[in-house]
Amino acid sequence: MNVFTIKEIQTCTSTNDEAKHQPFYSVILAEEQTNGRGRNGRTWVSGKGNLMASIVLPKPESAYIYSFLISLAIAQSIAFLSPRIKWPNDILVNGKKIAGILLEVYDDKLIIGFGVNIQEHPVDTLLYEATDLKEHGRAVEKEKLLQDILQNFQFMLELYQKKGFQQIRLEWLQFAMGVGKRISVKLLNSSIEGVFDGINEDGILILTDDNGKKQQITAGDVFMI
Ligand code: BTN
Repeated sequence: MNVFTIKEIQTCTSTNDEAKHQPFYSVILAEEQTNGRGRNGRTWVSGKGNLMASIVLPKPESAYIYSFLISLAIAQSIAFLSPRIKWPNDILVNGKKIAGILLEVYDDKLIIGFGVNIQEHPVDTLLYEATDLKEHGRAVEKEKLLQDILQNFQFMLELYQKKGFQQIRLEWLQFAMGVGKRISVKLLNSSIEGVFDGINEDGILILTDDNGKKQQITAGDVFMI
């Protein structure tokens, strides 16, 4: 049994908006979003058969840790497709995005929104190619997938509370995409290339640039090159 109470709704602007007015440990699950949001001000377009949900938690001190907890929980829930997590929290199968995560703080709440492509995926994305579970012959029920994600999330949360981020970091690195490989990171107004050296004890991306200098990156979009 997990600690979450699921509220299913038909339609909303964004499950993250809907979640703002719900008690802690609620989970909003929507059939449809009319204004789904992605990271960095992008739009999240998702069809009706896909999973769109948001968890409401009391705002913790280190909210960013939760992006590692939820990305791990999603990756574990679709482990049968050998997913990889692209820092900080995109989930990819065969290099194509299958799930995304959007954390937002509202008053005393942390809202953890996530979308998993089950039945369909956008085809005209500029930043990345996408895929869905159906394309891989594994179109699970969204309610069942949500239950699995919540169970794994609770497990990761308890692990974090008992052992701290160090343990989560090791779990996350097992799923991490491109460690030791060359990447380009698109920052706000520039981009930087180098070798991805993993994440440090704070979840910050470490990149060795072409001058051999270790750079610490706190926010950006990663591309494999
Ligand atoms: C991203 O990869 O850019 C993040 C996508 C997050 C999408 C989910 S769908 C449920 C929740 N509601 C939203 O408006 N966004 C998140």
